Amino acid sequence: MSLVQLAGVSKVYRSLKGSDYVAVRDFSLDIREGEFFCLLGTSGCGKTTVLNMVAGFEQASAGSITIAGRPIVGPAADRGVVFQGDDSLYGWLTALGNVEFGLRMRGVAAAERRQKAEHYLKLVGLAGQDHKHPSELSGGMKQRIQIARVLANEPRMLLMDEPFAALDAHTRADMQHELKRICASTGATVLFITHDIDEAIILADRIGVMHAGPASRLKGTVAVDLSEPERERTHDRFVGVYRQVHEMIRDEVAISLKRAH
Ligand SMILES: Nc1ncnc2c1ncn2[C@@H]1O[C@H](COP(=O)(O)OP(=O)(O)O)[C@@H](O)[C@H]1O
Ligand SMILES: [Mg+2]
Repeated sequence: MSLVQLAGVSKVYRSLKGSDYVAVRDFSLDIREGEFFCLLGTSGCGKTTVLNMVAGFEQASAGSITIAGRPIVGPAADRGVVFQGDDSLYGWLTALGNVEFGLRMRGVAAAERRQKAEHYLKLVGLAGQDHKHPSELSGGMKQRIQIARVLANEPRMLLMDEPFAALDAHTRADMQHELKRICASTGATVLFITHDIDEAIILADRIGVMHAGPASRLKGTVAVDLSEPERERTHDRFVGVYRQVHEMIRDEVAISLKRAH
């Protein structure tokens, strides 16, 4: 069953000078309940625009976006957003305080709040770091806290916009592994944005490739039907999926480079 449906969605940005920019046009996509969907595309093609509309931060200019059959009209607790940087944490709160924050705002009682926050900190591999402040933690740890904070609200869907892009290669591989484990244990539906083909193949059940902008839409999707051992960059089946995705995105990279010059 599909959880999120985008049907014929367009997004036009109005500039202050009065000229319009059509970022996305006639974009359609169904994401199934429990699916890990990676949206892949060249820089500036409209990935963040799509995520922001699903998050409810931006209104679609045309078309419809629904979650569980209801139109998305704004941000809500059923969708948790993880951003790229780690600077959205509150510097004056501890790791535990940051994870508890949303629960506190929703009026969850102290004991339950603490128990939940500790549970999710443990789930992201940060047990025992509860009392540290963001300034005492590495980029990877801060990103884990962001994820724990979003998970603590128990959203139906996770929206992640290049969440690991700023991390070094080792931390990034570590986080990809952790995220897979977490999603397997929570059964969350995920819309994950990346421009990295490897990352998409490591994580996704299905990959959607976007056209280069402007007026971008989905070019096609690729099912990633790989077992865990096959999600290894050197595995023949991994390489097979890589070729398939690369084939789709190659021309779009060329188009977007040409347009940038
Ligand atoms: N608020 C905005 N106003 C005007 N143009 C925007 C705005 N946000 C994004 N854009 C433009 O829309 C296009 C798609 O942007 P974005 O969704 O951020 O791309 P991506 O995330 O794929 O790199 C880009 O050309 C960008 O400059
Ligand atoms: Mg973006």
